[in-house]
Amino acid sequence: MFYQLARHFLFKLDPEVAHELTIKQLSFLGGTPLDIFFRQKVPSRPVTVMGLTFDNPVGLAAGLDKDGEAIDAFGAMGFGFIEVGTVTPRPQPGNDKPRLFRVIPAEGIINRMGFNNKGVDHLVEQLKKTRYQGVIGVNIGKNKDTPLEEGKNDYLACMDKVYPYAGYIAINISSPNTPGLRQLQYGAALDELLAALKLRQGELAQLHGKYVPLAVKIAPDMSDDELADVANTLLKNQIDGVIATNTTLDREMIFDMPHAHETGGLSGKPLQAKSTEFIRKLAGQLKGKMPIIGVGGIDSALAAREKLAAGASLVQVYSGFIYKGPPLVKDIVEHLL
Ligand SMILES: Cc1cc2nc3c(=O)[nH]c(=O)nc-3n(C[C@H](O)[C@H](O)[C@H](O)COP(=O)(O)O)c2cc1C
Repeated sequence: MFYQLARHFLFKLDPEVAHELTIKQLSFLGGTPLDIFFRQKVPSRPVTVMGLTFDNPVGLAAGLDKDGEAIDAFGAMGFGFIEVGTVTPRPQPGNDKPRLFRVIPAEGIINRMGFNNKGVDHLVEQLKKTRYQGVIGVNIGKNKDTPLEEGKNDYLACMDKVYPYAGYIAINISSPNTPGLRQLQYGAALDELLAALKLRQGELAQLHGKYVPLAVKIAPDMSDDELADVANTLLKNQIDGVIATNTTLDREMIFDMPHAHETGGLSGKPLQAKSTEFIRKLAGQLKGKMPIIGVGGIDSALAAREKLAAGASLVQVYSGFIYKGPPLVKDIVEHLL
């Protein structure tokens, strides 16, 4: 009820203005008695994945709280885990505005934000402050002006800084909005990157006396052969988990709808079936040797159950949460198998 009212107001605003306003409000109210506006009691449904225990398997996907400024507020909504970022070593403004579009008839979103964020140091300060007890994933990427060949150093720099504060670290090589980034998903480039990150993970585990799992986030736009190659490279490098999927470049489902022609990644309901199918194929390749975090168009308890049935161990929401609000989290957890 409260969210329906809030949404009515927010959807009258430009999408990015609405987003900024919401994060500001949540950041202000989170951790205070005024969080009663969005706090909800969600049943405990613990699961252990990547060696971590999650109070429930429903997480907030990366990109909604890029700078980790509203972690306590999202925690109060009952998320079992919260993935902050994508964060880059240096702050950067992202692409020119407008860069965020609602595709309302399809309950979709198109974005070409381009990793706008306040940089990893700012994020670390937020991680130090939060009182959220659940698992926090930190999603890391590379700065736009770092040449692709040097991208590895950006991931390593972020990893060094967030390692002591992260529950897991997500390696984002699948945003369509940083030129060339998706090339890191393939062949020798992927193998080299993962080998370097895995090596650093071992060193950091020694240094900090704790093992922080690495999860790699991939795009749904690849052929079956490419998917098989990616899965093999993830297994070869003993990565701890895979997050599938990021947004899609495919516009087939919405070609005649408002904003369909905008450049960027499409998320939400139009991505739902595609990402579920992708997860099913990925699970077939991984044969239970690596957990999958399923994300893409989850907008109901049933859609979440489909992701889990396809082979995911955890799920995340972004666009569905924009359209449905906090009740979506509760609904999914209450109707888990
Ligand atoms: C506005 C917006 C910004 C996003 N930013 C990021 C990001 O910074 N890093 C990332 O890994 N994914 C990002 N994503 C992708 C989501 O985390 C998610 O993978 C994708 O939207 C599919 O899930 P959904 O259909 O539930 O939205 C973003 C998505 C949206 C809509």
